[in-house]
Amino acid sequence: MSNRPYIVGNWKMNGTRAMLSEARTIDRAAQRYMKVEVAVAPPFTLIHAVHKEAEQIGVGAQDCHPGEDGAHTGDISATMVSDAGAKFVILGHSERRQNHGEDSAMVLAKLHAALNAGINAIICCGEPEDVRVAGDAEKYVLDQLRASLPEKLDDAGERLTVAYEPIWAIGTGRVATVEDIEAMHGAIYAFLKARFGEEAAQGIRILYGGSVKPENAREILAVPHVGGALVGGASLSADSFMNIALAAGEIEEQ
Ligand code: PGA
Repeated sequence: MSNRPYIVGNWKMNGTRAMLSEARTIDRAAQRYMKVEVAVAPPFTLIHAVHKEAEQIGVGAQDCHPGEDGAHTGDISATMVSDAGAKFVILGHSERRQNHGEDSAMVLAKLHAALNAGINAIICCGEPEDVRVAGDAEKYVLDQLRASLPEKLDDAGERLTVAYEPIWAIGTGRVATVEDIEAMHGAIYAFLKARFGEEAAQGIRILYGGSVKPENAREILAVPHVGGALVGGASLSADSFMNIALAAGEIEEQ
């Protein structure tokens, strides 16, 4: 089912058990939008509780450690998030890269851990503003992906998702232009095709992220090679998040 639009909520460091009612509302609404694959990645502390609420939506984690177990105080392994109910993990988000010094080699190690633990992965990439202004965004993003992704895949690409999130668009209300999104997603697709072959590249959805809202979702999701959205702020309310899923479903019907 990897061709359905994929709308993923990244709750970041937001949410206590009081948010479970929001997760329930998202899950019930998702049952009406079967043409769209809806998922949320709550903080670690809520994965199991959201998983127990969820009948329709996928539940994921926002990070995992590259190791299997051992003396890593405060860390969480891919097996642990899987055990809690996560079916995927977001890796290499720019906030992890910036706040925790994660480089692409670390992202790749975490990706191997996730795949070995039987969960899927969303690999994030995206350029800072000065790189975009200098005209080097495409090179920067493809370099990140080259180092964050394995040389080959064991499957047809369905376990992997890529999320393009220009850093200057995250949480700022600013969005890349449709032309820039189209150019970047086209370049990412071409890279994936060259690396993994056409069949796998078609199985790998490429999400856009960065200030996606109900008001701009339709325009963004209609761009070629945009297979869905990674949504931060607007995923914290079931209402705005499901309006983004609704937009994805309507485009799918056209
Ligand atoms: P935002 O976050 O939608 O709040 O900009 C997106 C993300 O960082 O995944």
